[in-house]
Amino acid sequence: MTALDDATATDARLPFHMRGNYAPVMEEVEAFDLPVIGSLPPELNGRYIRNGANPKHGPTMHWFAGDGMLHGVRLRDGRAEWYRNRWVRTKALAGADRMDAITGTMDLTVGLANTHVVRHAGRIFALEEGSFPNEVSPELDTLGPYDFGGRLHTPFTAHPHTCAETGEMHFFGYELVTAPFVTYHVADAAGNLVHSQAIDVPGPTMVHDFALSRNYAIFLDMPVVFDLDLAIKGTMPFEWRESYGARIGLLHRDRARQGEQPRWFDVDLCYVFHIMNAWESDDGTTVYLDAGRHASMWKGGADKFEPSYLHRWAFDLTTGTVTETQLDDVSHAFPRIDDRRTGLVNRYGWCVGPRPGSDPNSMNAPTNVLKYDLVTGERAFHDLGPSSMTGEPVFVPADDAAGEDEGYLVTFVYDAAENSSSFVVLDAADMSAGPIATVPVPQRIPHGFHGSWFADE
Ligand SMILES: [Fe+2]
Repeated sequence: MTALDDATATDARLPFHMRGNYAPVMEEVEAFDLPVIGSLPPELNGRYIRNGANPKHGPTMHWFAGDGMLHGVRLRDGRAEWYRNRWVRTKALAGADRMDAITGTMDLTVGLANTHVVRHAGRIFALEEGSFPNEVSPELDTLGPYDFGGRLHTPFTAHPHTCAETGEMHFFGYELVTAPFVTYHVADAAGNLVHSQAIDVPGPTMVHDFALSRNYAIFLDMPVVFDLDLAIKGTMPFEWRESYGARIGLLHRDRARQGEQPRWFDVDLCYVFHIMNAWESDDGTTVYLDAGRHASMWKGGADKFEPSYLHRWAFDLTTGTVTETQLDDVSHAFPRIDDRRTGLVNRYGWCVGPRPGSDPNSMNAPTNVLKYDLVTGERAFHDLGPSSMTGEPVFVPADDAAGEDEGYLVTFVYDAAENSSSFVVLDAADMSAGPIATVPVPQRIPHGFHGSWFADE
């Protein structure tokens, strides 16, 4: 199979994720001292790095199955010093298989590294939920699979969460063939893996994210179920199966160390890719979870992404009941908060939202940056224009003392009319303000998944 390029990206026979700006780019480029429209805040010293699926060897069966590619912008003293993009040099990119065809065992050093990029205890990890992290350098070079000095024995989620109060990174891994299907892990602030614990769930499902509050790790057990027969056929191995049910489990973080299991709450059938945050009432008797709720996922086909709506589950620990509330009737994707509020009550959240009037079911409709004020219930949009699609907005505080929305949003924006991409800095407090800075980059950046701001340390 030949590599794809833009010339083939409009071929309607290709799946959606190989066309338009979902199509991969085949060049690894770099550019220095990029032009800036507006002015970059001089306090933004660091790197914005974003991950995404960018298949190198031809069409993949699913959007999520492409090789990871990182796109990075380095800012210093008000200048955009460089842009570069690099495939993560995974073993999968080099042709290795995850599963040993003879023994059936999974090689956790083989993964796509295509979903997220995070930093913990000075190490930067490119993450994809089926394998160990791949450590990368600040210059986007691949250092290789990382297993916490031999202590990690499961895959590593693409969505770890770092406790705002302890600096611990809480995460999990899920597996598909043999129990335990979910394992919970904690790495301390220094990066040592200090706790690993099997979580009892009825079967193998796709578990994309989880949540953290001050006292609880919160697990989602939802009906996107793994089917080994589908996997053997080589098709998408997950399917929507309502009979599995849907439940959310609250595991007390301290009592977990003594082996306690989560307390499970049955919830209405749904799927959740991404949580916004979780927190607790002052008296500790209620735990709140805000997340993007999809009414279903991949019902009738693995390219059918139901839109998600901001939703709140309130778990009453006294009565053992859960109350569900849809918070908005406008869909969203990729919710983010000020990470300094992880596990604590947050007032603000930022997401990707449909441009008013566009089709929330379309994967190619123009999008805006959306801001929620969860205290007033207000929702505001930053309008990027009729031909633009934004990536996940990542919040960067203006300084250590800044309030919850006092800072910037950074992301990549694609303009379909120009077939070009820019790194954009917005005012996180004021969605009506124009961009603070726009940095055109020298090639289009395909729609991807998640990214992070890595301030200079
Ligand atoms: Fe994700």
